[in-house]
Amino acid sequence: MMDVKELQPIKQRYGIVGNCEALNHALDTALQVAKTDLSVLITGESGVGKEIIPRLIHDNSLRRMRKYFAINCGSIPEGTIDSELFGHEKGAFTGAIGEHEGYFGAADGGTLFLDEVGELPLSTQARLLRVLENGEYIRVGSSEVRKTNVRVVAATNVNIQAAIRDGKFREDLYYRLNTIPIKMPPLRERGEDIILLFKMFAMEIAKKYQMPQYITLSPDAEEIMKRYKWPGNIRQLKNVTEQMSILLRDTRVITPEILSDYEIWPTIEEKGGLVRVGRPDADSHSYQAEREMLFQMINALHREVNDLKQQLSSMPQGPMSPTTVMPISTAPSVVSVAPASTVVSVNPSASSHATLHDHHADNTPYAEEYVEESLSIEEQEKRLIIRALEKNRGRRKKAAEELHISERTLYRKIKEYGLDEM
Ligand SMILES: Nc1ncnc2c1ncn2[C@@H]1O[C@H](COP(=O)(O)OP(=O)(O)OP(=O)(O)O)[C@@H](O)[C@H]1O
Ligand SMILES: [Mg+2]
Repeated sequence: MMDVKELQPIKQRYGIVGNCEALNHALDTALQVAKTDLSVLITGESGVGKEIIPRLIHDNSLRRMRKYFAINCGSIPEGTIDSELFGHEKGAFTGAIGEHEGYFGAADGGTLFLDEVGELPLSTQARLLRVLENGEYIRVGSSEVRKTNVRVVAATNVNIQAAIRDGKFREDLYYRLNTIPIKMPPLRERGEDIILLFKMFAMEIAKKYQMPQYITLSPDAEEIMKRYKWPGNIRQLKNVTEQMSILLRDTRVITPEILSDYEIWPTIEEKGGLVRVGRPDADSHSYQAEREMLFQMINALHREVNDLKQQLSSMPQGPMSPTTVMPISTAPSVVSVAPASTVVSVNPSASSHATLHDHHADNTPYAEEYVEESLSIEEQEKRLIIRALEKNRGRRKKAAEELHISERTLYRKIKEYGLDEM
């Protein structure tokens, strides 16, 4: 590998931000193979920056004075793709008024970037394999074999191994394309680069719209950005940064609360894959709705307690003691009281206890009794969480499912109750 410093001018020229090893390795490989005619296959998730590589290869190759075409194989209809790539003769099919050269003819001496190569139909794959092997191709509707000298760089974000297994992609073509593999790392594996990219996008957008100040991240928010899954990778980071820059107007320091409004929350590693600790995907309800639901539940609980009190006081034994109320807190409704914590997350300075207390102090004469009850709910909740974690051998996802709470809530409660060591 070349000196990392040598990559700096390249990064500058192409607007590439980042210093992580995997990115440097990808760029370095691209530069090394640029001067050869070897086929390159770029893989990586959507939005990781695959399109930078073929341009970089072409510009640094001996072909740089010749033509470069970028073709998105996924966006050309199956019916015309052969003719687009390999050309057609006059009258080859209905509507083929004139002849058409096709990209492989037009790019003779140059470079073709075949983006989303995994989308090519099998018949086109056969033609592609042939032209890669000996430079030969035949126009649609012709029998004449033509020659071309094209360097092919391909990219895919689909799992091509799976496509091969499913019979949708030719294995021989895969090996032919994959002479030099270049893997673009997902954003979540780029560490500090995430913050660098955020800064770059924030500054770019501020400049573009002449904002007096660009947005920055609080230290907590930085941590969350680094631990988020980024399924849409750099494209998503760019979009989110632009949205926050524009929509938040006066807010210039991004906090974890703001990030969660943009559905960005930490993820954890579990069995090789990333699992989100956050709210469930189908998170359509707002904090307001959760809060209302919570208050309704509290009211219902309150009525239950009152009813019980009345029943007890009409019994000969006399007034209830705290222990006799216990069965209520083990009733199923208690488990669903869990969203109570959401209130806490809205207002991090208040404990759930204080929130409950305040609410009832305002509205009912039972504030004091209720506080006692809520404490026992907390105890119960803690016990239920411990039990669920033990039962599921520490697997938080499963435990959360069983408790009917989101992983995000469970994660926070584990912290709240100091159960982190479990
Ligand atoms: N290292 C980087 N520095 C700065 N910008 C980047 C970097 N990597 C990617 N980008 C930007 O991120 C966006 C997405 O990149 P690109 O279009 O290359 O993704 P892709 O891998 O081709 O995704 P897809 O598979 O969905 O087509 C582009 O705007 C690109 O300029
Ligand atoms: Mg792309």
